[in-house]
Amino acid sequence: MSDLLQIAIDGPASAGKSTVAKLVAHQLGYVYCDTGAMYRAVTWAAIRKNIRLDDNSALEKMVAEIKISFKPSADGQRVYVDQDEVTADIRLPKIANNVSTVAAQLSVREALTKRQQEIAFRGGIVMDGRDIGTTVLPDAQVKIFLVASVKERALRRFKENQAKGLEMNLEQLEQEIAERDHKDSTRAVSPLIQASDAVKVDTTMLSIDQVVAKIMEIIQKKAKNS
Ligand code: DC
Repeated sequence: MSDLLQIAIDGPASAGKSTVAKLVAHQLGYVYCDTGAMYRAVTWAAIRKNIRLDDNSALEKMVAEIKISFKPSADGQRVYVDQDEVTADIRLPKIANNVSTVAAQLSVREALTKRQQEIAFRGGIVMDGRDIGTTVLPDAQVKIFLVASVKERALRRFKENQAKGLEMNLEQLEQEIAERDHKDSTRAVSPLIQASDAVKVDTTMLSIDQVVAKIMEIIQKKAKNS
């Protein structure tokens, strides 16, 4: 494949986007960009600076002043806010439960969208998020909309947490995921919706390898026809 494509992978929380996007990027030798981590990093910074999470103009100023960066490492990408490594912190419940509020602020979305467009400009990128195919990269050559049932996504999160030694209630996880879906898909700015030209892939009954194979097939087909 000679052309450097832009590949957008959107979908709700815990549908497997980041795992799959990383593997697809690796197979293609492309860069992987986790836009959710950028919203989480902004949330981390706002909490640290005691900025109200729904204060659109204070957040605008803060986002203009901080630098969010990704650095590759042997155990995956590390995320930084200025000089502070926040890779683990941005996965904590405190961030997960507040990020929807920050992600609903217009100023934050505009600033991060612009940065994401700069990152993807040259192609050769797999970007995952909620609004990549609709807003960030509307001209992406490949758009995937990854879904799975709420039950299955809660179970996956539960197992992930268990592996990290975190005990959580499965029903509570289900409820949190359903709430996050609702917030993400009903917010006024860039809600989570499937782009009209995106291909929907339901991962409920599929293994990670099967999902990756399916997406690679979609990419190959697209590359052949373009
Ligand atoms: O994918 P994730 O769980 O790390 O995303 C964290 C939050 O950020 C989630 O509430 C949705 C939001 N988000 C968004 O609004 N737009 C994106 N492009 C990526 C994430």
